[in-house]
Amino acid sequence: MKTMSIMNLKCVFFAVAFLFRPVALQSYNGPEDSRLNVEVVLDVPTTGASTTPDGRIFFVLARVDGSTGPQLVEYHPSNKSTTAYPNEEWNSYSEDKDPATHFLGVNSQRVGPDGNLWVVDKGATSFGTPVNLPHGPKVVIVDLKSNEVHRTYPMGNATRAASLLDDIRFHNSTGKAYLTDAGSAGLIVLDLVSGSAVRVLDGDLSTREYMPVSAEGRIVYTQGKPWYVSADQLEVSPDGTYFYYQPSSGGMSRIETQWLDQAFYNSSLDSNAILGQYVEPYAFTTPTGGTAIDADGNIYNSDVDSQRIIKISPNGTMTTLIQDPRLLWVDAMWIDASQRLWMPAAQLNRGEPFNNGTSKIVKPNYVYSLNIGVGPSPIDHA
Ligand SMILES: *[C@@H]1O[C@H](CO)[C@@H](O)[C@H](O)[C@H]1NC(C)=O
Ligand SMILES: *[C@@H]1O[C@H](CO)[C@@H](O)[C@H](O)[C@H]1NC(C)=O
Ligand SMILES: *[C@@H]1O[C@H](CO)[C@@H](O)[C@H](O)[C@H]1NC(C)=O
Ligand SMILES: *[C@@H]1O[C@H](CO)[C@@H](O)[C@H](O)[C@H]1NC(C)=O
Ligand SMILES: *[C@@H]1O[C@H](CO)[C@@H](O)[C@H](O)[C@H]1NC(C)=O
Ligand SMILES: *[C@@H]1O[C@H](CO)[C@@H](O)[C@H](O)[C@H]1NC(C)=O
Repeated sequence: MKTMSIMNLKCVFFAVAFLFRPVALQSYNGPEDSRLNVEVVLDVPTTGASTTPDGRIFFVLARVDGSTGPQLVEYHPSNKSTTAYPNEEWNSYSEDKDPATHFLGVNSQRVGPDGNLWVVDKGATSFGTPVNLPHGPKVVIVDLKSNEVHRTYPMGNATRAASLLDDIRFHNSTGKAYLTDAGSAGLIVLDLVSGSAVRVLDGDLSTREYMPVSAEGRIVYTQGKPWYVSADQLEVSPDGTYFYYQPSSGGMSRIETQWLDQAFYNSSLDSNAILGQYVEPYAFTTPTGGTAIDADGNIYNSDVDSQRIIKISPNGTMTTLIQDPRLLWVDAMWIDASQRLWMPAAQLNRGEPFNNGTSKIVKPNYVYSLNIGVGPSPIDHA
């Protein structure tokens, strides 16, 4: 009974919040903001940047513009060029090659708190194609000193044909990492020592999308249907207490990491009726391309409908950090050691999969940055 009433309360919260959501949800055509710096110019869109404190830069290239080539690259500021990372072979998948040792579809990448590069491979070669099970979906760690693959975590046992293994965050003091599944709604808890992975909050209200994604003021369509994206953005609070997550349509929830960690071992806890009780609505965010978290626990959330970055304080209050017409579908953001927020303007909604096979992405593609006066959360990266 208690569970039912909490489920109902959550439904009521989302329904009421939806009715009273702010009306500023439309494409933004206002003036440019001179605080925005152009950090990198690319000839293809990137859906995620990451950097090391000594200045190395990595990008994931989603190829939604119809271009071909490596999905994961290192960018060289000295000559403004990119090279396949960790090498050409990992980036050269074709059906005759081993899906366990090649990237099928890199969805995200990040320099982890251990100083290695963590790569999330959704295990499918394009949006909407079934996952290549069991060996396609995986998390690959590349050692940035040797530039070689250090370990691969197979995720085939925790994913499904409809999964979209999305992104990863860490809770190193308990030796766990958390991933979102944006295709088959749910979270995955990964034990970094054993490599075992367990699905939790599978199909829970908090991991499910309740609306398709909207960008530049319009619902996004793919293959003739509105595009629904389940649990996507995720962050861990700097003290490791909370795990924040949301579907791409917005509506951010949080749960204490202790419950996720316990659910990994205790399958009695791993039912939505029980684990769902510990989920709290956190912030009523708008359709989102990506997030980042700073050392003070503020979450930066890119509003893809209105070309702005929303800052969510640890108490859940949202304010606009910057709004600029150039911030077109800012995807996974990054805070570097020089206190700059990197904003890759991916224009994802203008890509081929969302425009009947014709890319409307305007080249070149920009990665912007903004000084935010605070560095990254050490639990996330240096
Ligand atoms: C750019 O510089 C990097 C690093 O020095 C090098 O590996 C790469 O080959 C260079 N690319 C071009 C096109 O010169
Ligand atoms: C976690 O911490 C241990 C010990 O401090 C370290 O060896 C390991 O590399 C860390 N892992 C990650 C993912 O940060
Ligand atoms: C799935 O789990 C089984 C049983 O633990 C294990 O033998 C197998 O290697 C796992 N497969 C993958 C792809 O993780
Ligand atoms: C497992 O979870 C159930 C449900 O919350 C709880 O009653 C039980 O005490 C837990 N078991 C352990 C060993 O933590
Ligand atoms: C939430 O935090 C912000 C930033 O620290 C502060 O300005 C605001 O007053 C706080 N709101 C509440 C309701 O505590
Ligand atoms: C895609 O094609 C359909 C049918 O021709 C059309 O109704 C729709 O507006 C097109 N969508 C986009 C995003 O161009």
